[in-house]
Amino acid sequence: MSFPQRRLRRLRQSEAIRALVRESSLSTSDFIYPLFVTSRPNVHEPLGAIPDVSLLSGAPLESEARRLHDAGIPAVLLFAVLEDYEKDAAAAMASAPDGPMQQAIARIRSAAPGLTVIADLCLCEYSADGHCGVLHNGVIDNDRTLARLQQAALSLAAAGAGVIAPSGMMDGVVRSLREALDGEGFQDVLTMPYSAKYASALYGPFKAATRSAPAESRHSTHQLDPANRRQALEEIRLDLEEGADIIIVKPAMAYLDVLAAARTECRLPIAAYQVSGEYNMLHHAAGGDPGALNRLMLEMLLCIKRAGADMIITYFAPTAAEILHS
Ligand code: PBG
Ligand code: ZN
Repeated sequence: MSFPQRRLRRLRQSEAIRALVRESSLSTSDFIYPLFVTSRPNVHEPLGAIPDVSLLSGAPLESEARRLHDAGIPAVLLFAVLEDYEKDAAAAMASAPDGPMQQAIARIRSAAPGLTVIADLCLCEYSADGHCGVLHNGVIDNDRTLARLQQAALSLAAAGAGVIAPSGMMDGVVRSLREALDGEGFQDVLTMPYSAKYASALYGPFKAATRSAPAESRHSTHQLDPANRRQALEEIRLDLEEGADIIIVKPAMAYLDVLAAARTECRLPIAAYQVSGEYNMLHHAAGGDPGALNRLMLEMLLCIKRAGADMIITYFAPTAAEILHS
């Protein structure tokens, strides 16, 4: 059947009909909010490079956790921002029981027990050289890195992390973490790898904010080439086979084709990470008009859902939650 019998505009004639036939939707329960934590006491200071996002610790971190939980946001994704004197060649703080990440996890868990804590796991936040793995003869040694990540993951789980999110794209990391976690009785701790993490220039504001990774060029030895989609699907397949509970595609907006392809291949949950550069791009596009920013934000988040994401890691989480509730 075609025109004049078939008229698709009939499906768009009123808000009621549009609501009935809407294929995707946004909800506060879709969002994961990134939090940046420090070991310095009672810090609440703007990150600068990522607008409206703060570096937190102590009481301000606890009240932020409560605010997010009260807003209906189910989970936070934690990044530690270390002082230079806390970093060393062995990335020791990554697995220290009283490290900045471990302390922040414990604080959040006691302030907002219903909030799920996802701990980002990589060595670059903790190592003096900023590399994502253990260097051996000048190159990142995959298998030595796995052993360090196991120790770090166990300390994060012991501190109360419900989900471990390895972000360094090391081969075999999911199996290796699963074995370590299960071996210590952490069967209920999820793994949520950054399975399809691209070597993207969109991480610029994050890197400026966290003063991490001077070793930019090294990232292309483990992160995906933006030219590749099939390889991303293979990374996802391997991570699922190794036992991943949720997989991450990152960045989001320029990689919706990867997300859509992942959706058709994967029966388990997919998270999309709308990264710092995407967040800043939308701020610039809105040109200082808050209404325009809100419309852009909701449209882009919805598009990420439509492409196949079950959940979105986004710096917009609190703002989007506020709008969806109003
Ligand atoms: C690395 C990490 C990065 C981001 C999240 N985790 C930076 C990188 O891989 O270079 C970027 C996130 C963003 O830009 O919002 N642990
Ligand atoms: Zn890293």
